[in-house]
Amino acid sequence: MPEKLVWVGTSWKMNKTIDEARAYVRTLLPHLPMPGVQAFVLPSHTSLAAVRDTLPADTPLLLGAQNAHWADEGAGTGEVSMRMVKDAGALLVEMGHSERRRDFGENDDTVGLKARAALDHGLIPLICIGEPAEVRTAQMQEEYVLDQLREALRLLSPTEARRVIVAYEPIWAIGTGGRPATTEQIAPVMQAIAAALTEVSDGCARGTLLYGGGVAASNAAELLRTPNVDGLFVGRAAWTAQGLLELLRIGSAHAEASAAH
Ligand code: PGA
Repeated sequence: MPEKLVWVGTSWKMNKTIDEARAYVRTLLPHLPMPGVQAFVLPSHTSLAAVRDTLPADTPLLLGAQNAHWADEGAGTGEVSMRMVKDAGALLVEMGHSERRRDFGENDDTVGLKARAALDHGLIPLICIGEPAEVRTAQMQEEYVLDQLREALRLLSPTEARRVIVAYEPIWAIGTGGRPATTEQIAPVMQAIAAALTEVSDGCARGTLLYGGGVAASNAAELLRTPNVDGLFVGRAAWTAQGLLELLRIGSAHAEASAAH
């Protein structure tokens, strides 16, 4: 059996010029591949192609887009299509992030359409789900995220559902105002999502399951030890190449320790 890789990656969100994006990747590349780890980066649309052009043909770094429309083309001012982000170098495409749900009208309906469209273009959907603080206070987080997941996967076959990456990102843990989540808080949710992913995959190996929200070098090892966490999806802590490298090293140490068991 090939070893299962630990995924560690970042969305740069609305950060970095083209030069800054290139400089980041040039700092990162000499350290890749890191044993046991799959690294990925989601640049902004404006720097995606430039980053792709700095990578060697057999690149160990996967690239993705932070968003793309579900329609192939048309009157979508300000949007880009799956075909366009693929053309610019994306292999992954993020959808359903809480910032886009909150500020840009993204919802379960459009996330499902985007997951369908991504797979139609040979892209891997990276689907973000997660509950707001009030849902956590009401202890309804599992029902909430499982609903989001069901809607996101509703247009996919079992074979396709096995190819998605899901990131569980409790909204109360994300960003500068967030509170870091503990293993105890996330473990039951990760378990519920993993079970749902296995079920829709007809009992075969399920899709990859990441944790995101307030990930930092100080909590990454603990988060990775949480059952059903296949990797980490990082914002602020990986906006410098050194920050991502530190997390990749933690991921690599975790992969080595897991392989020894
Ligand atoms: P953060 O962002 O790591 O800065 O909390 C995570 C995310 O939004 O994916």
